[in-house]
Amino acid sequence: MNETRLETKKFSAVVEEVSSQPTAGKCLITEPLTSCTLIIVGASGDLTARKLIPALFELFLNNSLPNPFNIVGCSRTDLSGDDFRKKMKYACEHIPGQSPGDWQKFAENLYYRKVDYESPRSFSELAIYLRALNSEKNTGGNWIFYLAVPPSLYPKLSRMIGQAGLSREGREGNGWSRIVVEKPFGSDLDSALELDRILHTDFHEHQIFRIDHYLAKETVQNILMFRFANAIFEPIWNRSFIDYIGIIAAEQLGVEHRAGYYEQAGVLRDMFQNHMKQLLALIALEPPASFEADRVRDEKIKVFRAMKPFDVGKFDEELVLGQYGPGKIDGHHVSGYREEPGIAPDSLVPTFAMMRIFVDNWRWKGVPFYLVSGKRLARKVTKLVVQFKEVPHSLFQNVLGKHIIANRLTFGVYPEEEITLTFQTKSPGARVCLRTVTMDFTYKQGFEGPALEAYAKVLLDCILGDHMLFWRQDGVEQSWSFLSPILEECETCGNRGERLHPYASGSWGPKRAEKWMQLIL
Ligand code: BG6
Repeated sequence: MNETRLETKKFSAVVEEVSSQPTAGKCLITEPLTSCTLIIVGASGDLTARKLIPALFELFLNNSLPNPFNIVGCSRTDLSGDDFRKKMKYACEHIPGQSPGDWQKFAENLYYRKVDYESPRSFSELAIYLRALNSEKNTGGNWIFYLAVPPSLYPKLSRMIGQAGLSREGREGNGWSRIVVEKPFGSDLDSALELDRILHTDFHEHQIFRIDHYLAKETVQNILMFRFANAIFEPIWNRSFIDYIGIIAAEQLGVEHRAGYYEQAGVLRDMFQNHMKQLLALIALEPPASFEADRVRDEKIKVFRAMKPFDVGKFDEELVLGQYGPGKIDGHHVSGYREEPGIAPDSLVPTFAMMRIFVDNWRWKGVPFYLVSGKRLARKVTKLVVQFKEVPHSLFQNVLGKHIIANRLTFGVYPEEEITLTFQTKSPGARVCLRTVTMDFTYKQGFEGPALEAYAKVLLDCILGDHMLFWRQDGVEQSWSFLSPILEECETCGNRGERLHPYASGSWGPKRAEKWMQLIL
């Protein structure tokens, strides 16, 4: 889309180990991990088979699980332990690097227990079962409850766990106890506050782990390292040198089988309240005093607080909403959103949004942050673009007769995990010609150690009790406070339909967003 990008030639950064700092295998966990039992509530569901058990098996293969360590799958489905293990084995067959016998060994610590989500008695029985297992395997009475269930069940299940005596730390045979929930945390500010109130009935803040899997992506974690472990970028990381920031999370996938959830959420709740805001915060935050979870999260909160409230009067300048219609993805016909199973034929739920945000503080005043996310777009691309300003004066103006393309730094998250920097060089030859070249660093270049998939990383951090990659409640609230007026305006205004711009599946979104899209792609 952007011609200047197409002209760009590539130069690879040569990655050499130029320092004695740890790389590759040396970056694995070295401290002993505390034994515990991970209880997955909702274990017969999709998330457990697709993400959680494969991630745990991956950790096992990398010797990154505590020993002893138990995994107890719980759900309402009637399954035997063998059925559960068989299902999970199938889900892990694709994982590379396993030798015969590895699964068997891993599965020795995999259990299944049917529970009734409506019955406190069922949870009391679960507590007895867990304590018996703990006596047999001695995992220190340490529990992690991972709620792999629809968010509407979080309040009820958290209470059941608490009432069964499993949330109190250091009492009744418990060591520590943690609860893990995944976004969305409520569907607006009020429901987020209510969810938090209920979670806190039985758990303290330090026991609650609110997952945002974007934070666990390696290249996303790397943003802080890049910014604060290099001295040369920070002095130019501000409004004097940066023209705008672009953050895009484009997907080819449609709503899939999640109609019930998505019809309530739409793209703003699904992607903007959480993932997009976290990406913005990492680019925008001030240097924390130290790399500690609360210091980093303090700085994120300051960014959220500084976000300029959405100007409802300028709706069309600040926000473009869209919904995918039928079209072609990779040459195959795909249905429009309204024809997807479970979606209302007159649904006004947005599947695409582009938002312009300003962070009103000393560093960022006046610099637009363009955030885009959408389903059924041309390609899956996730990246952050830092667009620098043009040179203040072009001394080549009289020779070249055109402006000089400004530098751009890109953090690629998907499909390439990379960092690229574009700059101008002289083209070889007698005439004065400039060309844009890129210096690119592929994240895995020169690294041979194992890399952890996002869920493996968050599970490991739950075991370690490290909150760095998790939302803190004040952040959740700030994020909803910003989004609520926007949602209200989008969902209650009379011309809601007119504000929803259709786009063909396989395109780059609504025509109306094209000009902004070109800034980022
Ligand atoms: C999830 C959203 O949180 O993130 C999904 O609920 C979306 O709708 C997904 O598809 C995207 O994640 P990723 O890691 O594939 O970019």
